[in-house]
This record gives sequence, structure tokens and C-alpha cells, in this order.
Amino acid sequence: MTNESQMANTFEKCSVEVLLSGEAIQRRISDIAAEISKDFKDKDALIIAVLKGSFVFCADLIRKLNLNIAVDFISLSSYSGTSPDGRVNVIAGLKETPEGRDVIIVEDIVDTGHTLDFLLKELSLKKPKSISTCVLLDKKCARVKQVPVEYVCFEVGSEFVVGYGLDYNGFYRGLPYIGILKDND
Ligand code: XMP
Ligand code: MG
Repeated sequence: MTNESQMANTFEKCSVEVLLSGEAIQRRISDIAAEISKDFKDKDALIIAVLKGSFVFCADLIRKLNLNIAVDFISLSSYSGTSPDGRVNVIAGLKETPEGRDVIIVEDIVDTGHTLDFLLKELSLKKPKSISTCVLLDKKCARVKQVPVEYVCFEVGSEFVVGYGLDYNGFYRGLPYIGILKDND
């Protein structure tokens, strides 16, 4: 199947019900950014955004921070379609050095917790001064691995969500809101 026919197929089969509007997301990010700016004042903060899902959230978050921060990206893969396969792979690693720095992981969504658990273990080996986590969405009800999350924008239910950076098989990332993916069948 070509990419175009796959896209047509996905859009015909599914619809998206708005869960969090773009305005609500921006308001909440402003609050979280103010909190982080206060907590990390005078610290050597390094933001590590987890690709690809968090790139939209991270871009909005850093522009609301009143901090001099460095930003790096790590590309992890743990999902295929809507079901977790449990394994986490590093697809592209860091350029910055976390050692001795106050790291803030920026993640789109914590679901089972496998991805964050893996990343926290990987990063602690690099001897940062501290590690905190900031997530846009917390799917608490699906947690398998207990992971610490200091900053949560929104708690969500068990439904698969898309938009604002989050995808289904590569699609829907560009939606300005978060929505629940519904199968029309
Ligand atoms: P885990 O289960 O390891 O999942 O906490 C974390 C990663 O899985 C992706 N994920 C989702 N992506 N809608 C998405 O578009 C969802 O509802 C969803 N749940 C998990 C996401 O990449 C996250 O970083
Ligand atoms: Mg992610």
C-alpha cells in the first residue's frame, strides 16, 4: 500500500473527537511553564524531549519558560499502531552531556510507563545532577511501571489519543488539539 492510500484508508476508517482544545492546552502549558521556571531558576537545566511525539509540546513549553535552557532530543520507539509491544529502542541518541546537569525529560504521554522507566534508567547512567519529568498527558489508569512524574499537564483516560504531536501510524500529529481516535467501523 502506498503512503497516500494508507493515509486515505486511515482517515476514512477513523474519526477524532476533541478532548482538549488548543486553547486549553496553551493555558495549561503556561501554568506548568511558570512552575518549572520557578523551580529551575539558577539551575543548569537541560531539556530532553522524547521524539517524535513531544516535539509540538516541547516547542510551546520552551517558549513559555522564563529560563536559559539547553534543549536536546532523544528518539525512542515503543509503539506500533495502538498496542504497546513492551520493548523500547533508542533510534537516535543525545548530543548534549547530561552529567552534572538538571535534566527535564519532556514527554508527550506516559501510558504503561515502560518508555519513561527505560529512559530514566539510561539517563541515570550518565550521572545528571537531577532528573525531573514533564508530561503533557498522563494515562495513569494504564500504568504497569511506576515512574515518577513531577509535572503533568492533563490526566487522560484509557482511550487512544492523537493530535498536538501524537500520532496514529504517523498521522494526526498536526492537529492543534488532542482528540480521541474513534474507529468508524
Ligand atoms: P508507554 O506505554 O511506554 O508509552 O508509557 C509511551 C509512548 O507510547 C506512545 N503512546 C501513545 N501515542 N496516543 C499516541 O499517539 C496514545 O494514546 C499513546 N499512548 C502511548 C507515546 O509515543 C508515548 O511516548
Ligand atoms: Mg512519546
